Amino acid sequence: MEKTVTKRKVVIIGTGLVGSSCAFSLVHQSLCEELVLIDVNHERAVGEALDLLHTMSYMPTVTKVKAGTYADCHDANVIIIAAGGPPKPGETRLDSLQTSAKICQAIVPEVMKSGFSGHFLVISNPVDVIAYYVWQLSGLPSSHVLGTGTAIDSARLQAILAQRFGLNPKSVQAVALGEHGDSQMVPWSQVMIANQPLDQWLAAQGQVLSLEERAQIRTETARAGWEIFQRKGTTYYGIAAAANAIVKAILHDEQTVLPVSTRVTGQYGYHDVYFGTPALLGANGVEAVYEVPLTAAEMEQLAHSVTTLQQAQASLPAVIKSGVAEA
Ligand SMILES: NC(=O)c1ccc[n+]([C@@H]2O[C@H](COP(=O)([O-])OP(=O)(O)OC[C@H]3O[C@@H](n4cnc5c(N)ncnc54)[C@H](O)[C@@H]3O)[C@@H](O)[C@H]2O)c1
Repeated sequence: MEKTVTKRKVVIIGTGLVGSSCAFSLVHQSLCEELVLIDVNHERAVGEALDLLHTMSYMPTVTKVKAGTYADCHDANVIIIAAGGPPKPGETRLDSLQTSAKICQAIVPEVMKSGFSGHFLVISNPVDVIAYYVWQLSGLPSSHVLGTGTAIDSARLQAILAQRFGLNPKSVQAVALGEHGDSQMVPWSQVMIANQPLDQWLAAQGQVLSLEERAQIRTETARAGWEIFQRKGTTYYGIAAAANAIVKAILHDEQTVLPVSTRVTGQYGYHDVYFGTPALLGANGVEAVYEVPLTAAEMEQLAHSVTTLQQAQASLPAVIKSGVAEA
């Protein structure tokens, strides 16, 4: 009798600290049956694949891991792009734009030549602008190209609030919207603590969170990556956990809502720009893009972030599309 097991396959391009952390996390959670590692430094990918091979005796299930080439991309369900180095001291994520764009010019056409028709998950910074660029370069529908966006910032915000209130971060419902970067904003009007609106919960606890404190928490959230960066040169565990939650939602058709960087088509009044907002994730990638209800002041903060990204998008190198353009 023929075997009819459907295999889930993930390819990671760029197996530095972020890519390899994603790989370890994927294997540790047994999220896919096949994992292929690609790096411009092939020996590095080979080393990572060997290291992961030696974990299999202790993993929940065995994942077939190997270092590969772009030909391996043709039947991948998800390709994670984590190529390109962290910003240098004093640079912002947006300063990596031209370098990351050039790297994607080298990667994406090669992937598309393989016949790939799955989903791209972009991590390389500046992630919103690079996700947009990968969408443009690939010619895939925008539902198939997303970035990790504010998934990591939202987790950081939840961690900061949870620590302040002595709760599990899972008991805090809060998202960061806009750029995965300095201009991101927090819609405080929608924050829920222990299933209650923030202000109601604060009143019941006899606590207050002043406007200044809220602004400080927003800044702390946006700058959290730099706090880590200054101490260890880069960040990788948090982003690997966020990326894997997104990959799992797609591979397992979870219908999970997560804040990711996605193309908006009218949400919040914007078109054709990628930024962090909650999206419904399933086997078809981004199956719906949700708009968080915002106050007028919050809309202004989001506008600042979106304008920053639109300007950065406009500075991307021109694209000759390799596939079918999307209206
Ligand atoms: N979105 C986020 O929240 C987030 C968080 C952390 C890091 N990042 C970004 O992730 C990226 C990787 O960071 P890192 O710390 O792993 O860097 P790293 O220097 O450790 O690794 C980068 C890897 O990319 C490889 N690479 C470079 N050019 C390539 C190409 N053309 N094809 C294939 N591989 C190529 C390098 O050989 C290297 O192994 C950076 O852009 C960083 O800013 C994003």
